[in-house]
Amino acid sequence: MRLILLGPPGAGKGTQAKMLEEKFGIPQISTGDILRKAVGNDTPLGKKAKAYMGDGQLVPDEIVIELIKEKIKEDDCACGFILDGFPRTIVQAEKLSETLEEMKLDIDAVIDFEVDLNELTVRLTGRRSCLDCGAMFHDETRPPRKRGVCDHCGHELYQRPDDNKETILKRLEVYDNETAPLKDYYRKRGNLKTLEGRGSVDEIFSQVCALVS
Ligand code: AP5
Repeated sequence: MRLILLGPPGAGKGTQAKMLEEKFGIPQISTGDILRKAVGNDTPLGKKAKAYMGDGQLVPDEIVIELIKEKIKEDDCACGFILDGFPRTIVQAEKLSETLEEMKLDIDAVIDFEVDLNELTVRLTGRRSCLDCGAMFHDETRPPRKRGVCDHCGHELYQRPDDNKETILKRLEVYDNETAPLKDYYRKRGNLKTLEGRGSVDEIFSQVCALVS
């Protein structure tokens, strides 16, 4: 199964991707996580990406396209993958289609999470993430058992530097301009499935599973 999760920052793509990964045994590929790791390790990729991410802008297409092209050819993607945060521009979507065609593969579904602006802002300003295992929490709706500590691996939780109000607004604007047009792109290809992204994480997960089963 090959899936794309689409939706604005805070829509729940990462949360649902991790649950899908566990249930179906196919890897989540999050360009955001890959880039954050590179920034954290101060690699050449991280050095290139850091300023864009800090400003809430997209990292240039050619960088992320190369990343994904390599990633989806790896052995662990042989039975499928869940793309979380890619593609984010029409150019990225076209390059992905070309690569999959070369591999004689296709996308099974593009799941678009629709969540209103107020809810997105609340979710992002309260989000806490584990830098070590990537688990996600929220101050109010999904608090860890011990404040500031990951339930799963015991590492410290942190707030993403781009989860401040000013950068969140920029990211949402970039989403509207650059990424939202992908809905039409995939609607025309016949594989867009839209979900009302409000409701508990488990409720949304049941809906996602129903869409892909
Ligand atoms: P990325 O890491 O992809 O961030 P994003 O798209 O902005 O999405 P988020 O991770 O913020 O949100 P999400 O939808 O995953 O929500 P989550 O599940 O965490 O990208 C970061 C940056 O990297 C970009 O700005 C860009 O610079 C760069 N980048 C990445 N990919 C790129 C690409 N392809 N091209 C160019 N640049 C790229 O949930 C959010 C919070 O809400 C959590 O606290 C969670 O617990 C909570 N929550 C989730 N679901 C629910 C629910 N149903 N009810 C209540 N709370 C919920």
